[in-house]
Amino acid sequence: MLIKEKEQYRPRVHFAPQANWINDPNGMVYFEGEYHLFYQYNPNDTVWGPMHWGHAVSKDMVKWEELSIALYPDQLGQIFSGSAVVDWDNTTGFFPEKPGLVAIFTHHQPGDHEHPDKQSQSIAYSHDRGRTWEKYHGNPVLTDDTLIDFRDPKVFWDQTRGLWIMVLATGQSVRFYSSKNLKEWQFESQFGDDRGYQKGVWECPDLFQLPVEGSDKTRWVLLVSVGDNPEYQTGSKTQYFVGEFDGKTFKPEHVDVRWLDHGKDNYAGVSFSDIPSNDGRRIYMGWMSNWRYANQVPTKGWRGQMTFPRCLSLQEHHGQCMIRQLPVKEIERYARQVSMIDRKRIEPSQPYHIKLDEGCVDVKLKLDIARAQLLILTCKHTADQETIITFNGSTQEVSLQRQDYSHGKLPDLFEATQSMPFYGNPELNIRLIIDAASIELFTDDGLQALTSLIYPDQPCQELVITSQNGDTQLLSGQVSIL
Ligand code: FRU
Repeated sequence: MLIKEKEQYRPRVHFAPQANWINDPNGMVYFEGEYHLFYQYNPNDTVWGPMHWGHAVSKDMVKWEELSIALYPDQLGQIFSGSAVVDWDNTTGFFPEKPGLVAIFTHHQPGDHEHPDKQSQSIAYSHDRGRTWEKYHGNPVLTDDTLIDFRDPKVFWDQTRGLWIMVLATGQSVRFYSSKNLKEWQFESQFGDDRGYQKGVWECPDLFQLPVEGSDKTRWVLLVSVGDNPEYQTGSKTQYFVGEFDGKTFKPEHVDVRWLDHGKDNYAGVSFSDIPSNDGRRIYMGWMSNWRYANQVPTKGWRGQMTFPRCLSLQEHHGQCMIRQLPVKEIERYARQVSMIDRKRIEPSQPYHIKLDEGCVDVKLKLDIARAQLLILTCKHTADQETIITFNGSTQEVSLQRQDYSHGKLPDLFEATQSMPFYGNPELNIRLIIDAASIELFTDDGLQALTSLIYPDQPCQELVITSQNGDTQLLSGQVSIL
């Protein structure tokens, strides 16, 4: 394969494997100065297959170094998704000398025509900063005789009660378990079934506490990814619940379905464990793809990439606590060139052009659309290929229209319009991270997010801002070439 073919679509600031297939981020943990990213990995092909845990480390979550495979399939099955924690107090007994990492993951034993799939939870530990792993001899540590979908353990230390808590996907619900030592687990409660979005299997949950900005209150957030169901045009997508967790049960404070991301390409995301308290951030990364077409996207020699890491917070909006997410500040170090845009008026007849160097850019814009009410951002890739983002002030909806330039090979969902509400009207606040094959759009200081892959023949060469019906005031802008 030509290097050029392999490098086409390769992101500049997003994690993607050098070769072969990846899906979910796994075991994200910070330990001894390194961010660890493990991931669902098929080392033998560019489509989903026997799952391993691949491994990469980073000092800043932007530049990643790929290491050797962390976990291989064994007699209990393939290594499906899960989490990793630092066992600071040697609760497991694995670390008599100094703290180390424990991975908690699903063993997946594929079924055959006589037996269904079998999923169970297992653990492994590492004494050398995740470079090598020992599987626990007593695996599996949690089984169930009836459930087929029983996977993706996310574990955290509950400081208040002095226990480990696991949240696990169990069909169209999640279950909470507790443990003193990561080896013996006790069932606490089940949540879901009749709650939230139910048109697909629940996967990759996460549970954490977040402060509510500008108050002394906190809330618990439960993330739940929902798998693709071909009967619906949703694809695979991640929802979240905000509520209370008392160490045993989770109680949401709303009945509406809330999407973490309105785009098609942010799935199975969870947060890092053990971010130091003097940092205090809750940092999230998702798999930037969709099960509807993940196996068909047109990269060569490798397939799959992660979203840019995002810092999560909670903000009260019309009495509802909502997740706010923005790219982590580490991105600023990667700005090769920063230009500020002064206040200017954009007339309908004179669109404003921003030339981009190699198509990877971080853009911040503040605009007043009081007169126009219709604003279009066009990413120009080639003379006849573009991705169009339209802000409609009267419906308070933004939509992203991408095209399938892989010559019609991707399912319809790829070209279906993606849209989300925005609140800031007439003063619109936009953040965009554009990479070789993706656009991450944030509005309202991150209260709304839309993540979308794109596969044009060339990365974005130019961004064109067009005001329709009337003029738009560009209040301020910053364009950082990455
Ligand atoms: C989510 C998922 C998980 C599972 C893994 C298998 O994308 O289906 O539920 O553990 O992928 O690769």
